[in-house]
Amino acid sequence: MDAERILDIVQSVSDLQHIRSGKVREIFRFTENILLFVATDRISAFDVVLPTDIPSKGKVLTNISKFWFRETKDICPNHFVSTRPQDFMDLEDDVLEVLAGRSMMVEQMRPIPFECIVRGHLCGSAFREYEKSGTVGGVELPQGLKFGDKIASGPLFTLTTKAETGHDLPVGFEALEAEIGEEDAEVVRKMSQELYQFGQRVARQAGLVLVDTKFEFGYNRRGEVCVMDEMLTPDSSRFWLKSDYLKGNRGDPYDKEFVRQYLVESGWDRNPPAPELPEEIVSETVRRYTLVHDAITKLKL
Ligand SMILES: Nc1ncnc2c1ncn2[C@@H]1O[C@H](COP(=O)(O)OP(=O)(O)OP(=O)(O)O)[C@@H](O)[C@H]1O
Ligand SMILES: [Mg+2]
Repeated sequence: MDAERILDIVQSVSDLQHIRSGKVREIFRFTENILLFVATDRISAFDVVLPTDIPSKGKVLTNISKFWFRETKDICPNHFVSTRPQDFMDLEDDVLEVLAGRSMMVEQMRPIPFECIVRGHLCGSAFREYEKSGTVGGVELPQGLKFGDKIASGPLFTLTTKAETGHDLPVGFEALEAEIGEEDAEVVRKMSQELYQFGQRVARQAGLVLVDTKFEFGYNRRGEVCVMDEMLTPDSSRFWLKSDYLKGNRGDPYDKEFVRQYLVESGWDRNPPAPELPEEIVSETVRRYTLVHDAITKLKL
């Protein structure tokens, strides 16, 4: 679904006020406290929105996030309200058709302006840091670890800034403490690790390895720390196949990394505009995202 069409139709036929275009989501205001998120099929890499859509990706991300928000609400409160806006407002058929499967009503939060990264395995920028200095996010790890190894001491929590423009930068735990206080910073860290560990167990049941992920948190009206945004999706996490992992094949990504790898190999310098994705990369990305979606959401926990 073309993102411009989503905006046009929703704005021309409903009274919803459009408040923001994210790289992936269009955000509308429903009431003072409730937002309507519409996930488009856009994909971004290295903080640039690509000119090529990934068909049905918005629906896949919405449904995976819904699964996790429901299943983890006893671990950590979250912003999820409903994926059925038609239960809350009168919507014309053409708007409903556009929103179906890709919309999520959420409680508006006061965002905590950091990305909370949890890693159960050593890869990506964490592996590069480890190779150079033997540490991840400044924390020393045992010597001799290989790419993709599980981090035996438990999942590592690190933070980056959430830059309005430009790239997110790594920061220490003190930055989070300075922003929200020691007590809440500790809550954010604990929730992140518990959510990751739950996700890791469920992913394993689904035949996947949840390598690492990123969470965003905010405060609800009652001042509680809640998890918001999207959760444990292939846009916000790295997934590998468990069967690959057990055979020692590490790093074939069932997530956005698949697209990043293509872009790196294409020689793109990461400055906008990004190149179009070839059809075979698009269809293989759809296959990989859909596999993760199906494997996770079919589970009866
Ligand atoms: N419950 C919430 N209340 C307020 N803001 C939220 C909530 N959940 C998520 N957000 C914010 O809404 C945006 C979601 O849109 P989208 O995923 O398209 O953004 P993004 O491009 O990933 O984000 P950004 O541009 O900020 O990196 C993010 O900026 C996210 O931080
Ligand atoms: Mg996002």
